[in-house]
Amino acid sequence: RSILLINGPNLNLLGTREPELYGSTTLQDVIDLAQKQAAGLGVKLQTFQSNWEGAIVDRIQEARTQGVDAIVINPAAFTHTSVAIRDALLGVDIPFVELHVTNVHTREAWRHHSYFQDKAVAVICGMGTYGYTAALEFAANI
Ligand code: DQA
Repeated sequence: RSILLINGPNLNLLGTREPELYGSTTLQDVIDLAQKQAAGLGVKLQTFQSNWEGAIVDRIQEARTQGVDAIVINPAAFTHTSVAIRDALLGVDIPFVELHVTNVHTREAWRHHSYFQDKAVAVICGMGTYGYTAALEFAANI
């Protein structure tokens, strides 16, 4: 099985960005832990982070040609804005889990809407970076 983990804009700053909200774990920590977990689960894990919407669209399209079975995506700010990333996920027809570090429903009202939530197999939010572990465990069995 093959899983692709995508992180959207500003998640490269995880660990230093608004630590009271996002914690002190870095994206590299998250990826290292996820790779270990994937090895234990016997799945192949690819990871991708970009601050660019189009780069994320391109990576999702590439996932289909690579035979990726499931996508775990934290679209970050694009959650609330991106029809293009939504359309890419629907276009490749790969099941996906939407993930947020914070509980977006306790934050600004405009973070309550997601362009992904009605199409995601599952949505995880508010678990901190543990959400990546939970999402990967789940995605390995989709
Ligand atoms: C986020 C929540 C989004 O609203 C925000 O724009 C992010 C991160 C999260 O992981 O909690 O950049 O997706």
